Amino acid sequence: MATTAVVDAGEGAPDPTVRNLLEQESLKWVFVGGKGGVGKTTCSSILSILLASARQSVLVISTDPAHNLSDAFQQRFTKFPTLVRGFNNLYAMEIDPKVENDDFSNEGMEGFLSELTNAIPGVDEAMSFAEMLKLVQTMDYSVVVFDTAPTGHTLRLLQFPATLEKGLEKMMALKNKFGGLLNQATRLFGLGDELNEDAMLGRLEGMKDVIEQVNRQFKDPDLTTFVCVCIPEFLSLYETERLVQELAKFEIDAHNIIINQVLFDEEAVESKLLKARIKMQQKYIDQFHMLYDDFNITKLPLLPEEVCGVQALQNFSRHFLTPYKPALKRGTVEELELRVSILKSALQEAESELDRLRKGKQVA
Ligand SMILES: Nc1ncnc2c1ncn2[C@@H]1O[C@H](COP(=O)(O)OP(=O)(O)OP(=O)(O)O)[C@@H](O)[C@H]1O
Ligand SMILES: [Mg+2]
Repeated sequence: MATTAVVDAGEGAPDPTVRNLLEQESLKWVFVGGKGGVGKTTCSSILSILLASARQSVLVISTDPAHNLSDAFQQRFTKFPTLVRGFNNLYAMEIDPKVENDDFSNEGMEGFLSELTNAIPGVDEAMSFAEMLKLVQTMDYSVVVFDTAPTGHTLRLLQFPATLEKGLEKMMALKNKFGGLLNQATRLFGLGDELNEDAMLGRLEGMKDVIEQVNRQFKDPDLTTFVCVCIPEFLSLYETERLVQELAKFEIDAHNIIINQVLFDEEAVESKLLKARIKMQQKYIDQFHMLYDDFNITKLPLLPEEVCGVQALQNFSRHFLTPYKPALKRGTVEELELRVSILKSALQEAESELDRLRKGKQVA
């Protein structure tokens, strides 16, 4: 008999829901991240729906080039905030950090930018992310939820203040060292006045305030938190640990873990495969509880169907607030009676199928 899949957190463990996020009124930036395909978009969509009922206005932003907020809400979004259908205070937008640099090319800075990018990898992406944040800050949403791309990409984005600062320092150093030499060189090669490093430097400097402000905000646990989404499997546990350690290094607060796609041993099914998966998941769920006993760990059931559209997201959102309880407890009289009746009807079905086949054969 498979062990029961409901492992509750130990005595005194933090609440196994995301209520803490809804109650933290000062919260301004919520990052949602984790390994590919674990349910980041589903979770950030639902968190933004829940936050919209607690806060004045919410913006959910996808920074994943392979956007799927549009799929989750079944509504097309663009790089500008769009009101989500059915809400009056929830907006969504999808940005692509890599192609946002159109304006650089328009200014003809491509060559210079690519040189700078080679010198400081990620500076172009960091600059467009900073510009986006600058824009979002002027929009004055109460809280902004980021649906991020799989882990590596997210960590790069979180590094952006450091990357930009490094870029600025490097540019300053170059400027001091060579004076107007670079300018002369760009002019010499026919690149025109506005294409010099002064323009680039001006741009980086102009962003310095935003960088410092955002950096301060991201490191302030009253304003910013990171929600780690995972599934109860080894690779996801491993990746979560890596993520939590990196976040600690960047001094970014994280105290919520969502374990998605949990199989609850509640159906009177006799599948050996299912039982083996439940047992395996159980092992990792226990490890999550052991490793992160000071985190709010929320477990979400694996549904038979996808979670698509506002209605489905809203239905699923209740498991974020009330721990999922399987309808059936293994080993009770009620469970055994149910199993016996299910087995009886399965037997009846098989017998009548067999009868039909035998009769068909005789006729043939
Ligand atoms: N608990 C669940 N039960 C059933 N289906 C789920 C569950 N959670 C998510 N899904 C479905 O799984 C698919 C992947 O989920 P989602 O898009 O949220 O993952 P993701 O982590 O954002 O993926 P990616 O890394 O590609 O961005 C979606 O079709 C979603 O509807
Ligand atoms: Mg996604």
